[in-house]
Amino acid sequence: MKIVKATEDNIRISAGIIKKGGLVAFPTETVYGLGADALNPIAAASIFEAKKRPFFDPLIVHIADLSDVERVARNVASKGLKLMERFWPGPLTIVLEKLDIVPDIVTSGLATVAVRMPVHPAARGLIREAGTLLAAPSANRFGCLSPTTAEHVYNQLGDSVDMILDGGPCSIGIESTIVKIMNNRIYLLRPGGIAPEEIEDFTGEVLLAGYPKNKPEAPGQLPYHYSPEKQVILVDKITRTEERSGYLFFKQPESPYREDKSRVLSAKGDLREAASNLFAYLHWLDTLDIDKIYVERVEGSGLGVAIMDRLKKASMKYI
Ligand code: TXA
Ligand code: MG
Repeated sequence: MKIVKATEDNIRISAGIIKKGGLVAFPTETVYGLGADALNPIAAASIFEAKKRPFFDPLIVHIADLSDVERVARNVASKGLKLMERFWPGPLTIVLEKLDIVPDIVTSGLATVAVRMPVHPAARGLIREAGTLLAAPSANRFGCLSPTTAEHVYNQLGDSVDMILDGGPCSIGIESTIVKIMNNRIYLLRPGGIAPEEIEDFTGEVLLAGYPKNKPEAPGQLPYHYSPEKQVILVDKITRTEERSGYLFFKQPESPYREDKSRVLSAKGDLREAASNLFAYLHWLDTLDIDKIYVERVEGSGLGVAIMDRLKKASMKYI
């Protein structure tokens, strides 16, 4: 078993693996990442291989310190700098103009690079110890559920990873929010662990939705993503009980329900708690002997925007 606790010693060993071009799965506060040396194109290529990820889907470069930004990006807009100062370290990814040192395979040939500074001490410890930056997508097979525990990583990627650092369950549990600044306006490319309202309150401007329509280079814009094996069906309220179905409630249901086939995202309906449980509960439901998973829609504000984005994409698989 290659899952090891994220101790200082194991972080040092993992950093050695990264320096040699290997793959290390590591904890972040959002989801587990599958890390390789972002400045080594061959190492980065093995991420795509392990995940079975298409090369047109670019990776996020993870940094440990603010000064790392200038190793990979240039011409950072002042709005970008303010966002970094306010939200880093944390679940915010910012798309920036890239330097030539960043291999094309990392950015899928784009002129931009997505950069994020995670909070998790094991993640930043690994980056510092490796002396490079880490290209890291979520450590799942392409299109499947994102991992929020070391076991989730092992179950999906198994032996294609050289080491899995176990830092416990992810505290936020949903991927980072991705923004890009163009013509002095801020675009939301992927809703995530920081609520859009939080960014809007800080900047005093409304985030522009999505990406100008020219290219599907923005995250998760494929028809489905984040999907369990089982069929996901979104409903406003779960009312039915079928023998071969599982259930994911948003809040504590008023009437009795099949506890052996159900999970409640947050008894009180707290969106943060719901986000942190989302992938873990979907992973669990996916292991049951059922055909379908009924999922209740959540409120579409705050972290609910990111939760609904993942749920809609999960439910698209069979449409
Ligand atoms: O929370 C997270 O962001 C996690 C942890 C591991 O840090 N990472 C993550 O990576 O979610 P991934 O690869 O699953 O999703 C990254 C998304 C991709 O869908 C990709 O399309 C988008 O970021 N992306 C990367 N570079 C981009 C760029 N230059 N322009 C626009 N989108 C980009
Ligand atoms: Mg992903």
